[in-house]
Amino acid sequence: MQKLIINGGNKLNGEIRIQGAKNAALPIMAAAVLCGEKVVLHNCPKISDVYSAMRILTYLGCKASFDGNVAVINSENITCSAVSEELMREMRSSIFFLGAVLGRTGKCRLSLPGGCDLGPRPIDIHISALRKMGVHIKEEYGELDCSVEKGLNGAKIALSFPSVGATENIILAAVLAKGTTVISNAAREPEIIDLAEFLNKCGAKIHGAGGSRITIIGVKKLSGCEYKIMPDRIACATYLACTASAGGELVVTDCRPTDMESILPVFEQMGCLVHTLDDRIFFSAKYPLRAVAPIRTMVYPGFPTDAQAFVMAALCRAKGTSVFVENIFENRYKHVGGLTRMGADILIEGKVAVIEGTAKLYGVKTEAPDLRGGAGLVTAALAAEGTSEISAIHHIDRGYVEIENVLSSVGADIKRI
Ligand code: UD1
Repeated sequence: MQKLIINGGNKLNGEIRIQGAKNAALPIMAAAVLCGEKVVLHNCPKISDVYSAMRILTYLGCKASFDGNVAVINSENITCSAVSEELMREMRSSIFFLGAVLGRTGKCRLSLPGGCDLGPRPIDIHISALRKMGVHIKEEYGELDCSVEKGLNGAKIALSFPSVGATENIILAAVLAKGTTVISNAAREPEIIDLAEFLNKCGAKIHGAGGSRITIIGVKKLSGCEYKIMPDRIACATYLACTASAGGELVVTDCRPTDMESILPVFEQMGCLVHTLDDRIFFSAKYPLRAVAPIRTMVYPGFPTDAQAFVMAALCRAKGTSVFVENIFENRYKHVGGLTRMGADILIEGKVAVIEGTAKLYGVKTEAPDLRGGAGLVTAALAAEGTSEISAIHHIDRGYVEIENVLSSVGADIKRI
């Protein structure tokens, strides 16, 4: 089993280029199934979730290869419309293949997806939307058996909650459907715009992505294209949190600061200097860090739940009391156990976490509980006195490209064993 060994205390100084976005790459890879031609994806992050998507594509009969940061997918011959239980369990994003395979073949058989255990993660919103589009869905023993008799039909779909995954799945199912689909109360995350831009480049007609009303006019056929995946705003926020925690000055390149308007002001409240210029962020951590006003996780453009763990980790040594309210997932404080073992003073009451800043954190042996929680433990370990040993790092590898190499390139004492 691999582990990260971190000797805390080094400041981070230098430049980090931000990887392509996991949460854009995964639905776009599923969307490639709809194209029936060759798709070339640039800036695709080398993370284990992307490899899981490649395995699903191959299972479906696509040709899929990955070299450098370029994924090449050819979905001309789809030989299968089912995804094995083993592959579905590897990640939550396997659920995107439901909309994509249905849109391409009119049927799909798969089991419920895996992914981080953040509490219940139902897919009822996906399912009721697909039913509105004419899909027959049988749910038995954790398996979904889906089919459409005469092709999918466009529909008016009002989401009960602006779910990111459901919005993307409906878009995937709707691009080749008969007629027009209108999604209201759609999620507005930037990754949804990236998916829509990719599909429009392939010939789809999607309007309004990024707003809460998205219109998809079904087309008969899509073609292939070359596309560059957007930068990962969550990875970017992670490296800023690491620098806030450890101290130092960072230049982040190839990022998109305009996607981070709810995150960057939090670092400024901590006392860090944040200067943005086009696709760059100049970041300087000033000590001591200060506690911040209460942070409530929200759907975009609110503060992202995905940034909660590592921003909390950076605040463990800030002067004063900080409060988080986790509104998106029920079980997203699993990193708190590891942080308190490092010496953090954190109280959890339901969806509220109260952090009293402490002067020092100490290196400990701990385990990544999930992807972003693992990044939170790394963030704290960089500032802790002594050595931390973080195991179960397969969670971290699901979303970060070689996190140890990125951080050691800016001065962290971190290695993988
Ligand atoms: C996506 C992101 C994930 C992020 C999350 C919230 C990807 C690949 N993953 O996950 O990193 O943490 O958005 O920003 O993009 N829900 C239901 N029924 C459904 C669907 C969702 O009740 O059918 C609930 C979920 O349990 C959760 C909330 O809605 O409480 C948000 O989920 P959703 O927006 O769907 O997140 P994901 O697409 O799973």
